[in-house]
Amino acid sequence: MLIYKANKHLQRLLSPFKRRRYGDVSAGKTSRLVLGIETSCDDTGAAVLSEEGTILGESLHSQKEVHLRTGGIIPAVAQQLHREHIERVVQEALDHSGVDPGQLSAVATTVKPGLALSLGVGLKFSLDFVRRHHTPFIPIHHMEAHALTVRLLQPVSFPFLVLLVSGGHSLLAVARGVDDFLLLGRTLDEAPGDTLDKVARRLSLIKHPRCSTLSGGQAIELLAKDGDRSRFPFKTPMGQTYDCCFSFAGLRNQVTMTIEKMEAAEGIDRGALLSCVNDIAAATQHTVACHLAKRMHRAILFCKANGLLPSLAPTLIVSGGVASNEYIRRALGVITDATGLHLVCPPAKFCTDNGVMIAWNGVERLREGKGILPPDADVSYEPKAPLGVDLTSQVKAAAIPVPRIRMNI
Ligand code: KG4
Ligand code: ZN
Repeated sequence: MLIYKANKHLQRLLSPFKRRRYGDVSAGKTSRLVLGIETSCDDTGAAVLSEEGTILGESLHSQKEVHLRTGGIIPAVAQQLHREHIERVVQEALDHSGVDPGQLSAVATTVKPGLALSLGVGLKFSLDFVRRHHTPFIPIHHMEAHALTVRLLQPVSFPFLVLLVSGGHSLLAVARGVDDFLLLGRTLDEAPGDTLDKVARRLSLIKHPRCSTLSGGQAIELLAKDGDRSRFPFKTPMGQTYDCCFSFAGLRNQVTMTIEKMEAAEGIDRGALLSCVNDIAAATQHTVACHLAKRMHRAILFCKANGLLPSLAPTLIVSGGVASNEYIRRALGVITDATGLHLVCPPAKFCTDNGVMIAWNGVERLREGKGILPPDADVSYEPKAPLGVDLTSQVKAAAIPVPRIRMNI
């Protein structure tokens, strides 16, 4: 059962109790504990989890506001901010949990994929930490961690289908085990969150009174609620390519051309807010949703044709920052309803980057004894790291047609 204690004061009051309950790991009677550390992009996160999946303490520092101001993530700035905050964030997670470093059974840290400079900060900090405290180290694949987070929250058995959509990634995979994934589709250019962020920037939504503190994806979701999606009928990408890969650069191009046309029509300069932002947001969001839904539909049909999912209660997990978009969730729900899959989206807090998902992946690996290294192991980070066994060519060769489904969202 998940016991999540958000209240810091309560956490402090409980900490002596937790120390007794979880502390005596050496006696073999108590739960093993894992510290998870995340720095792959622009969030510095840390969390302490028990082997049963209880979140004992966590802390997160988001760089979002800084990057919003500079119009995108500048890797050197992200690196500097991780350096400034990592020690405090890890200490807060430990303090909230009432766990001493010596009580940890392992430290799990994201080492791939991600921004090189950001990954480097988390890895260096973690290696120093495990060497100082003689703790085993578990290197974590960021996308595997996103894919498995749901299992912390509710029982979901392998195998299941997973759609991961964030600012850096866009992929469809079958999760068959903790370290066993089949890749069915990935983006050929940019990820949907990146596209939404760039469209939001081109629309200067940071100047919009309702959007100044929101990420691009959040701003577009908010404005789209008051928009008419049919006013700008953008073409859904890759209609003639019968695989499960994604492409968003062409859509961004269509949207940019529309923005330029509307700026000319309204007689305003680039950088000023268009009167039709809501309609552009609605049409962009709708096209992203349809594209994701169609590729996912083909992935489901491919899995069914090849017996990759259980016939009883097959499940689709949707995670990553873009998965917090309710309109996109509804579009995916239309497809899962039509194909008999059970759709599960973790709450937004668990869809975006955090230390909990990394600690949980560490717990899953610790339980199975997979990928646990000694503290003095030589580990490097990998900015680019594919997920699992690549089946994208087989999916393309199968060329499965997808029946047309009306998107009544
Ligand atoms: O998973 P995440 O926190 O970080 C990585 O990219 O790994 O995802 C952040 C991305 C950003 O591109 C942001 O614009 C997008 O997720 N996002 C959303 C929403 N909330 C965040 N996109 C669409 N709708 C949302 N509600
Ligand atoms: Zn992520």
